[in-house]
Amino acid sequence: MITDFMTGEHRHCDQLFALAESAANDDHLDGARSAYAEFEAALLGHLDMEEQVLFPAFEARTGMNGGPTAVMRMEHEQMRAVLGQMQRALAGGSMDDFLGLAETLNVLIQQHNMKEEHMLYPMTDRALAGEAGAIIERMRAL
Ligand SMILES: [Fe+2]
Repeated sequence: MITDFMTGEHRHCDQLFALAESAANDDHLDGARSAYAEFEAALLGHLDMEEQVLFPAFEARTGMNGGPTAVMRMEHEQMRAVLGQMQRALAGGSMDDFLGLAETLNVLIQQHNMKEEHMLYPMTDRALAGEAGAIIERMRAL
């Protein structure tokens, strides 16, 4: 099921995020930088899976272009903007800025993930029943 696969991705990103935050909390700049880089790559990869594979498949099947996927794409842009700020904070060595931004990103991500896990992903499972395996393979191949 798409819901299970994508929810697992969210949890994986959450774990990497927690590692980056705890390194920052310990004032461990190098550790925070490397953990953050790993988290950012995982999250951006996940957003790409949705924007390049899952959302277009859902939109094509349902004809819903301006609905939930449009809102999710907009929220992805907000998340990317905060990621950029976090990256700059770490590059400048400002742990306090980084941790403040991490709080903001965490709220954005949790609200966003909730909508996907409880509304959009189940909708994609219903709309794309029978194609779930192929879609997951295409997302993994990105
Ligand atoms: Fe998303």
